[in-house]
Amino acid sequence: MAATTLSDTIPTDDARPRVVLGVSGGIAAYKACTLLRILTETGHDVRVVPTRAALEFVGAPTWAALSGHPVSASTWDDVHEVPHVRLGQRADLVVVAPATADLLARAAHGLADDLLTNVLLTARCPVLLAPAMHTEMWQHPATQANVALLRSRGVVVLDPASGRLTGADTGPGRLPEPEAIAAAAVRLLARGGADVGDLAGLRVVVSAGGTREPLDPVRYLGNRSSGKQGFALAGAAAARGAHVRLVAANTVLPLPGGVEVTAVGTALELRTAMLAAAGDADVVVMAAAVADFRPAQVAEHKIKKTDDPDDTPVVRLVRNPDILAELVAGRRPGQVVVGFAAETGDESADVLTHARRKLARKGCDLLVVNDVSGGQVFGQEHNAVTVLDAAGGAVPVPLSTKEAVADAVWDAVRHRLDTGAADDDAADGDVDVM
Ligand code: CTP
Repeated sequence: MAATTLSDTIPTDDARPRVVLGVSGGIAAYKACTLLRILTETGHDVRVVPTRAALEFVGAPTWAALSGHPVSASTWDDVHEVPHVRLGQRADLVVVAPATADLLARAAHGLADDLLTNVLLTARCPVLLAPAMHTEMWQHPATQANVALLRSRGVVVLDPASGRLTGADTGPGRLPEPEAIAAAAVRLLARGGADVGDLAGLRVVVSAGGTREPLDPVRYLGNRSSGKQGFALAGAAAARGAHVRLVAANTVLPLPGGVEVTAVGTALELRTAMLAAAGDADVVVMAAAVADFRPAQVAEHKIKKTDDPDDTPVVRLVRNPDILAELVAGRRPGQVVVGFAAETGDESADVLTHARRKLARKGCDLLVVNDVSGGQVFGQEHNAVTVLDAAGGAVPVPLSTKEAVADAVWDAVRHRLDTGAADDDAADGDVDVM
């Protein structure tokens, strides 16, 4: 029986996107096994190309078994198949996770001293790098210059996450979670390289999740928001080059790659975090579901029921501040503010008419409208929205993944930043202001 070679022929009827997963030599190489599983289980044909150092951490049999393809780090295996050229040429996407400081340096300077760097030179598809290293190495001017050079060429370089590193130390340098890298990879495949870096240099703040308003030390008033849409927005902005601050209210989702996170609980905490982060932001997105009311009093101790069956306590509520309205009122020149609205139509007006009125009332630049007449979207993987622009535009986004919705919102933000408020004047009179 003929041995399978490194670049064995892919069946012509195999329509799966072809991904090369490069793995360089860092301890986070073990997390690339999970990334590989996610990519194969979501319908990608994945070839793993480790560096020699990566094989010190995770052996070739693991990569071969998980990918279903033979694995080599060398340009000297199966030379007749010219794998150092073919793998890159045939790929629809190259992902390197973890990308060490050494790998970034070799990629930035066009070295081709192993199979992975050969792949990086021959690939003409989008390239996604997920760095992982110690904080000092990440912050070193040499590494930062290499990252800037790679980004200037259209390579997507995720910012590493902050947190516990290999030893006892903590700081920026952790590999983003495999789910987050997979999400960035999938969006890059879906969108091609067209929007790579189109939000570079922008500072954006995104709120996500749902606030919880305590009644006592163990109980709260909350809502069903999962935070998925806000996390998708943060991940897409980071993948497009923005510097992202995610203010997350009570979420349990894996963090998107390359975002800084502030965790909050209540509407008042969300307000404080958003107002602070919006100070120097170019774009502010309020995707969180904020409780409009909170209990007037929070009991210091757990509220106990009494033996009296007629004892039915009444909870008095007070209004929470409208954070979006405050953000709009305090916005700095040129800042784009995006609101979300879950709307239903009624006998007086349809969903979009209500939404246009809310857009005008709230004074934000864009309003992402969910029609929730037919059910709820909380916790779902898909969403259908209309993105309304204060200039009068309306972009319908048919039922799509929340990641695709996120990209549509950023497209609208990009358009808004490019055209500015000039369009608004032209639209005066078109907008149904009540
Ligand atoms: N929002 C906010 N602060 C609040 C309530 C809502 O910043 N206290 C933001 C949400 O994050 C969202 C937008 O306002 O971006 C619209 O929320 P929605 O609940 O639809 O608006 P409301 O003004 O509460 O209108 P409605 O009376 O229809 O509930």
